[in-house]
Amino acid sequence: MSKHWDQYWKQGHLTSFGDSFEGNYTGVLHQAWTEAVEMLPEQFDVLDIATGNGAIPLLLKESLLPLGKSGQIIGVDLAQVNQPENDSSSISIELLSNINCCDLPFEAETFDVVTSQFGIEYAPLNVALVEALRVLKAKGRLQLIVHHSESMVIRRNRRIVNLISGSLVEQVLNLLGVMTEQMGELRSNIDLARIKDNPQSEQNRLELNRLIGELVKLDEDALKDSDLMTYVATLFKTGIFWSVSKKKEYLRFITSELLTLEQRLTELVNASVTQDDLASIINSTAKTSKLEEIKVIRTSEFDEILAWKVVLCKH
Ligand SMILES: C[S@@+](CC[C@H](N)C(=O)[O-])C[C@H]1O[C@@H](n2cnc3c(N)ncnc32)[C@H](O)[C@@H]1O
Repeated sequence: MSKHWDQYWKQGHLTSFGDSFEGNYTGVLHQAWTEAVEMLPEQFDVLDIATGNGAIPLLLKESLLPLGKSGQIIGVDLAQVNQPENDSSSISIELLSNINCCDLPFEAETFDVVTSQFGIEYAPLNVALVEALRVLKAKGRLQLIVHHSESMVIRRNRRIVNLISGSLVEQVLNLLGVMTEQMGELRSNIDLARIKDNPQSEQNRLELNRLIGELVKLDEDALKDSDLMTYVATLFKTGIFWSVSKKKEYLRFITSELLTLEQRLTELVNASVTQDDLASIINSTAKTSKLEEIKVIRTSEFDEILAWKVVLCKH
C-alpha cells in the first residue's frame, strides 16, 4: 500500500469520503453500526480493523454510552492515524497505527466483537478473516461492511481509472509539455498575440481541443471527476505568464497527482468484493463461524447499491 492513507488521515478527515460527511457517517451506514451494539455485554472489548481516524469506534461509543455499558474499543490501521481525545466516560478508545490486520498483536479470544468498515477487504481477505476470527471470543461476532463491486462508488471510480490510465490522457500531458516549450517565455499581451499568429501554436491548440473532445466523448463525468480540465485551465489562465520552468514544474505536479489518483482508485476498485468472492470467503470460514447475516446496503435516497453487510458468529 502506498503512503496516501498516512497523508489522508494526517489531514484530519474522520470518514473516508473526504468532505461528503460533515462529521461522522450518517444515514444507512450510521444505522448499521448502531444496530451492532445491542448484543454487546455490559463490560465489552471491541476491535475495529482498518479504523482510519476512528469513525466506527466513535459511532459505537456514541450508541453505547446511553445503554450504560462500559469497556474499551481498540482500532488498528496499517497507516499512521490520529488518536481521538478521550473523555472521562466509561468507554475508552485507543487507536494503534502501523498494524497489519493479517498479523494482529492480540491474544486469541480477546474481543467480543470485531468490526470493519471499508477496510479489511484491502488486505488479502482469506488471511485477514482467519486472523479476525482468531482474536474473537467464542460466540463473538465479526461484523463487516465491505465495498460491493457494483456499488455506485466503485462503478464511478472504475470509470475514472479507465479514463486516466488510457492513452488519451497521456497524449494530453505530452502535448502540454510540447506547447510549454513551443510557447517559450510569455511576459505580455504582445507575446500572447505572437503565439496566436504562430501556425505551429495554432496546430497544437487544435490538437489539444481534439483530444479533449475525445475525452468528453469517452466519459465526460469521469473527466470532470479526474480534475484534468481544472489543471489545464490553471495552466492556460492563472499560469499563462509563468516562466517555462514553473509551467514544467506544474506539469510534473499534474502528472504526479493523476498517478496518485490512479493508484488510490485502483486499490479501491481491486478491494471491492463480488458475490462470488463473498461466497468463497463464507465457505472458507464455515469451520470456525456461522453466517448470521448477509445483505446489500442501499442508499436511502436513490436506492443504489452502497456496500455488503456481513455478520459472522464464531462457534
Ligand atoms: C477506506 S479506509 C476506511 C477507514 C474507516 N474504517 C472508515 O470506514 O472510514 C481504508 C483503511 O484501510 C487501511 N488498510 C489498508 N490495508 C490494511 C491492512 N492490511 N491492515 C490494516 N489496515 C489496512 C488503510 O490504511 C485505510 O485507513
